[in-house]
Amino acid sequence: MTDLSSPDALDVVAALIARHRGSPGALMPLLHAVQDALGHVPAAAVPLMAQALNLSRAEVHGVIRHYPHFREAPAGRHVVQVCRAESCQALGADALMAHAAQVLHCAEHATREDGAVTLEPVYCLGLCASSPAVMVDGRLHARMTPQKFDRIAAALELA
Ligand code: FES
Repeated sequence: MTDLSSPDALDVVAALIARHRGSPGALMPLLHAVQDALGHVPAAAVPLMAQALNLSRAEVHGVIRHYPHFREAPAGRHVVQVCRAESCQALGADALMAHAAQVLHCAEHATREDGAVTLEPVYCLGLCASSPAVMVDGRLHARMTPQKFDRIAAALELA
């Protein structure tokens, strides 16, 4: 994970702005590119992006806050994402998220104090036929149950 205070991170943001600024609707692809490169969208990147795209800082912040995908702070060492879209919602995503929060000692949309894990909602992982779905560190898990979740958390020493 790169800190925006480092010259490298500033170079990364500047390069991504240069790549995207000429395209129509550049903000979303730029935000995705910054998060992919740095793991989150640092606050210090917002004025740079706003100025380059002729937007207000509030507009850029508004888009970042509207989409749960974008992180404003670096993620924990492990990232647990619980799908909350329709199919998973119909098959117990609320209860599964509550269970995950309890087991991980981490609130939804937050990073645990020790930095070990970030727990996030996501909106469809493409496994709707096998709901409820969870992604842990980029690996998909279908038909999740509290028991399966406990095993995953224990294996990662998060429980
Ligand atoms: S709704 Fe959860 S994977 Fe599609």
